[in-house]
Amino acid sequence: MACVMDGNGRWASRRSLPRSSGHSAAEATVIEVIEAARRAGVEWLSLYAFSTENWRRPRDEIAALMLLVRRVVRKHAPLLHARGVRCRFLGVSDSRVPAPLARDFADLTLLTGANRGMTLTVAFDHGGRRDIVEAARSLLRAGVPPEAVDERTFAAHLPFPDTPDVDLVIRTSGEQRISNFMLWQVAYAELVFPPVLWPDFRAAHFVECLHTYRQRDRRFGGVAPHANGET
Ligand code: IPE
Ligand code: IPE
Ligand code: MG
Repeated sequence: MACVMDGNGRWASRRSLPRSSGHSAAEATVIEVIEAARRAGVEWLSLYAFSTENWRRPRDEIAALMLLVRRVVRKHAPLLHARGVRCRFLGVSDSRVPAPLARDFADLTLLTGANRGMTLTVAFDHGGRRDIVEAARSLLRAGVPPEAVDERTFAAHLPFPDTPDVDLVIRTSGEQRISNFMLWQVAYAELVFPPVLWPDFRAAHFVECLHTYRQRDRRFGGVAPHANGET
């Protein structure tokens, strides 16, 4: 499952605080959601932290966010490792990502690489379309003949090809869009849009979203089993 962590800016502006305070307030939710997901038995959790489009934001906000993410990664690395969480980072190809932050990402990936608990993918400097374009380039570079390209071979050229399809996307703050997030993997995801802003999102909201998901009728283009008896 995956979360688009949205609403930090609105959380801050409602309190007449700078947007960066909203990002700081998001830290507690991140940790709470990781714990709640583990408790619920979620094996694959992806969090959308920074998009390729987020580079359009004011320089100050971007700088504050980079510092914050660095602090969060360093602070929580021991806890994540102790919990058996395998961490990895999807994106991070832009030279504007500060080198020390990219190093911290690499360190955490290495530290937790052998863990077999939940896999936590942090999408940072991520764009779903960019990943698809990169996969196409990778196929071409590998000289794969066009007739050999099917969905399975294509997906094998995406970053982290072991990532399963996303079953559930939670986007907080009431916004109802995907914003270029893991486009390939969310093809058949169920979407839940709780109105609560990300810094206010708690474990109970998370459990509620899982409950909503379980009540969905997933048909994948087929016919719902209970529809068989209908006349
Ligand atoms: C999400 O919160 C965090 C990032 C995109 C980094 P926003 O900063 O988008 O918050 P709103 O949408 O402005 O409220
Ligand atoms: C999407 O949120 C990206 C992240 C949550 C990291 P945005 O707030 O940037 O997306 P838009 O601009 O509302 O589509
Ligand atoms: Mg937003």
